[in-house]
Amino acid sequence: MTDLFSSTDRVKVSDTYTTHADAVFFEGNCMTLLADVPSKSVDLVITSPPYNLGKKYEKTASLQEYLKNQEPVIAELDRVLASTGSLCWQVGNYVHKGEVFPLDVYFYEIFKRLGLKLRNRIIWRFNHGLHASKRFSGRYEVILWFTKGDAYVFNLDPVRIPAKYPGKRYFKGPKRGQLSGNPLGKNPSDVWDIVRQDWEEEVWDIPNVKANHPEKTAHPCQFPVELVERCVLALTQPDGIVCDPYCGVGSTIIAALQHHRKAIAAEQDASYVAIARERIRQFTQGTLPLRPLGRPIHKPTGKERIAQMPLEWQKAAEADRS
Ligand SMILES: C[S@@+](CC[C@H](N)C(=O)[O-])C[C@H]1O[C@@H](n2cnc3c(N)ncnc32)[C@H](O)[C@@H]1O
Repeated sequence: MTDLFSSTDRVKVSDTYTTHADAVFFEGNCMTLLADVPSKSVDLVITSPPYNLGKKYEKTASLQEYLKNQEPVIAELDRVLASTGSLCWQVGNYVHKGEVFPLDVYFYEIFKRLGLKLRNRIIWRFNHGLHASKRFSGRYEVILWFTKGDAYVFNLDPVRIPAKYPGKRYFKGPKRGQLSGNPLGKNPSDVWDIVRQDWEEEVWDIPNVKANHPEKTAHPCQFPVELVERCVLALTQPDGIVCDPYCGVGSTIIAALQHHRKAIAAEQDASYVAIARERIRQFTQGTLPLRPLGRPIHKPTGKERIAQMPLEWQKAAEADRS
């Protein structure tokens, strides 16, 4: 085993498969790594595969060819997945000559043929992206969450989000006076988007990683660590094993380590591997910039605008808000 870091660091990272490391981070084709991973040993596969869009790291192929190339990888992921395990496949659209092909629709068939069961088709809506001129601008992607069987891990409490009216109580009936919602918050639902919007304020649940995001690196399509965190916390137990075959700049490894899970990951591009290693090093030293799960984006509260209004308007606006 090759340790990436000195023995004083908190985590051990190996560049080849072993059960004795906190993270296995393999540089190369994921199929090579997966061949060494024992069957039914992984609790969660979470990944964002190449979308066949001609990014620096992918050769464009026809949609059929692209899907055919993914099938052996998916079959391997199914093999390594534990019988209580989950698989989260995060994809957007493949666009060819202006025509949109929703990748989750095509991938669904492949997973279904393997017997996996869809538990949620999560819509991840975000606030930044290209402005389209010949169709509406794309502002969401999809996470297909499958389980291998009917007995699977689902921990809702660690991923609850604040309720809109946390102190709301039953006002009649036998539960009168008791809290009507769960004091730990509400189920984040299968639409991950704006959690609150009033006046000019927009509070986004999980913003995508664009220029002003604290986690932004040179990778064009990294997903936010908090998106992986929500899946890791909900779908695995502590000490569980999380696998990302297309791990880019290491977002999945970081989310797994953050929550005391182990990671198994591959990335074939040396420049992303270097960035990922540096991010893991910074993580171990507590200096990696991260946007914590559940922290709203700071936006004006609306009160600032109210303060600039004529006094009478201010009173009406405050009454409206209360
Ligand atoms: C959509 S990106 C994933 C980014 C990642 N979620 C992150 O947060 O950084 C897909 C990644 O898969 C890598 N990749 C493509 N084919 C691969 C293969 N066969 N084995 C390993 N990595 C591969 C690409 O270099 C690219 O970084």
